[in-house]
Amino acid sequence: MSELNIKRPKGTQDITPIEVNKWQTIEGVCKSTAEDYGFSEIRTPTFEDTKLFVRSVGDATDVVQKEMYTVTSKGDSEFTLKPEGTAGVIRAVIENGMLNEAFPQKLFYITQCFRHEKPQAGRLREFHQFGCEMIGTKSPIADADLIMLAADVLERIGINNTRLNINSIGCPTCRAEYTKALREYFSQHTDTLCDTCISRLEKNPMRILDCKSPVCSEIAKDAPVILDYLCDECKEHFDMLKCILDAMEIEYSVNPRIVRGLDYYTKTVFEFICDSIGAQATVCGGGRYDGLIRELGGADTPALGFAMGIERLLLAAKRSRAEFIDRLSCDIYLASIGKDALLVTAQLARGFRDMGFIAEYDIVGRSLNAQMKYANKIKAKFSAVIGDDDIKKGVIKVKNMETGEIDNLKLNENFYDRFSDVLNSYLFGDEFALD
Ligand code: HAM
Repeated sequence: MSELNIKRPKGTQDITPIEVNKWQTIEGVCKSTAEDYGFSEIRTPTFEDTKLFVRSVGDATDVVQKEMYTVTSKGDSEFTLKPEGTAGVIRAVIENGMLNEAFPQKLFYITQCFRHEKPQAGRLREFHQFGCEMIGTKSPIADADLIMLAADVLERIGINNTRLNINSIGCPTCRAEYTKALREYFSQHTDTLCDTCISRLEKNPMRILDCKSPVCSEIAKDAPVILDYLCDECKEHFDMLKCILDAMEIEYSVNPRIVRGLDYYTKTVFEFICDSIGAQATVCGGGRYDGLIRELGGADTPALGFAMGIERLLLAAKRSRAEFIDRLSCDIYLASIGKDALLVTAQLARGFRDMGFIAEYDIVGRSLNAQMKYANKIKAKFSAVIGDDDIKKGVIKVKNMETGEIDNLKLNENFYDRFSDVLNSYLFGDEFALD
């Protein structure tokens, strides 16, 4: 035995077939709900020019300062594995001329993301996001529609224990006054703030508000709140959003402490929290980013979006005892006695598969006994044992593995249709079977 004992990297996960099933259920709900709201899928590269994230996420954020996986490739270009989905989508929208298409553009994605964070339950170094981006509308109705989409995704997955927090973090106009007030406040605490926050004091004091250090978060608790500094336009936008959410009967709390960890946000920000999944309780985060498209070189275009961590959705779904579809099991196992019969089972399996059934036969060289044990292990719904005699007679005995009932099916052009009848009547009752 080799001494090599290679383990998966810290903060990553293997998703084994039983879990993949749950992932597929969740991804399926995310995709179909987004499509119901008129969103189309977009796929962007796993890595991007590092400058894209520095420019969009912001050079004073934890993500850019501490968490990026950056590589220098041949020719000295610097690339970073995407820490989030928005920046790449906006780059792609600009690069592919999509800003010239009809607005709003509504795009969704399911993607891997990478952040070098301290791993814990619900916080990984490689994780997955389902995200939605809406481009080309500044109306607060769009904010409410997007929040409704997120709420529907959670509900359709079966997650019933989340709460929605909303806030407005204003626009560059109101932010200037607020930043001044924050700088004044935090300047009184320079002896206790962490080194990163000291450097943020000049660059972007709002970032101190989401520092993970317990000392900085304690100081941040008494800092001025942005809602007291909103300009008339931002205030009106936020008031409208609250009115629409009320009208749509979507419950929320205004939490003036939410600032989000990325620099591109303007006006509305929101988070869905699931308290039962531990310290990393934010299952969904998002908001408006009206300045980002221009910042990245596109025409001045308002936009907004959110992303949900799929690992956290899974934790929340399990806590809510949400149901997941069962792993698909084998419809028919074709056992064989002898070489000629084995070839017939291979042909039959192909025919079954062409018709959309899950069919298996002996590709290991097992005894008949061992073949049947295997059929039981994989929970085959039906089995057939095929020998020379059956081939000569042209009749296959199909056995229901649960009841032991046997149907004789003639090997003719109706063979697969007849099996379909037998399977349907087993799955859905007699009324589904053709006679
Ligand atoms: P974010 O809040 O950084 O926002 O991440 C969105 C979600 O991704 C979080 O609420 C969480 O569920 C999940 N997440 C983040 N980091 C981790 C991690 N290390 N391990 C597991 N899950 C994690 C964004 O990324 C924005 N791009 C969202 C957005 C889209 N805003 C506008 N459009």
